[in-house]
Amino acid sequence: MHTTSVSYSFGQERGQWNGASEEQLLAAIDRQRLPVHVAIIMDGNGRWATRRSLPRVEGHRAGVGALRETVEVCGQLGIRYLTVYAFSTENWERPEQEVGFLMELLMTVIEQELPRLCEHGVGLRVIGDMGRLPAQVRERLTEALKTVPAEEKLTLCVALNYGGRAEITRAARLLAHDVMLGKVRLEDIDEAAFASYLYTAGLPDPDLVIRTGGEHRISNFLLWQLAYAELWITPVYWPDFRRVHLYEAILDYQRRQRRFGRI
Ligand code: IPE
Ligand code: IPE
Ligand code: MG
Repeated sequence: MHTTSVSYSFGQERGQWNGASEEQLLAAIDRQRLPVHVAIIMDGNGRWATRRSLPRVEGHRAGVGALRETVEVCGQLGIRYLTVYAFSTENWERPEQEVGFLMELLMTVIEQELPRLCEHGVGLRVIGDMGRLPAQVRERLTEALKTVPAEEKLTLCVALNYGGRAEITRAARLLAHDVMLGKVRLEDIDEAAFASYLYTAGLPDPDLVIRTGGEHRISNFLLWQLAYAELWITPVYWPDFRRVHLYEAILDYQRRQRRFGRI
């Protein structure tokens, strides 16, 4: 088990796997039992920066490298879906300057990383309400989504202006509308039918959720989809997250017994 008693450190906290080399960890992963869908709450950017006496936004900038490495490693391992929580519906409550920086950063990242995604055959999908994003960001995103197919060997799904409650409320509204129009009968509404109205329609539920930054909470992420996900929390701040941490998370996941309510 990954204990929470480990200290929050500057460096790369290695928890229970301390001592094992990157190669040993990689070799220990069972490729037949990989999580199909990994979701990540990329948290701790601000604290990473504050620890270094830098402005919080420098943590966001530094987090881009961690994301690039994570996408690359997921591709190499053969993970099919990677969903990352980039901006929540609650993150608008942050100071205007920080929100502005995040939106600018988003545009830079789309521009810089798009060729790499295409080159490596990574698909792109966005979940969340793009309507509230600044027009410039929305336009670039729309362009990017046209350039990159939604489904590839690996699909990167970015949660942007995403909130689990907002997603469920929106799905209820869309479904009610279809009922009103007579397109859906009440008796046909089951879990699968409801899920088809969520942003994540067509995506399998996450098997493994990683949260960096040490907080033990879901923070409005994929509330419906996480019903039976395995959680792995590390004190490592997102900008310090490296391939070894992903290997550790997967190894830990592979030692779990998933019961789905059965015995
Ligand atoms: C996560 O890091 C990034 C976003 C929410 C956009 P934070 O900015 O929340 O960093 P901490 O949790 O304050 O350290
Ligand atoms: C969750 O982190 C959202 C993202 C990583 C985008 P937050 O920092 O916003 O969550 P709380 O405030 O710790 O719950
Ligand atoms: Mg945070």
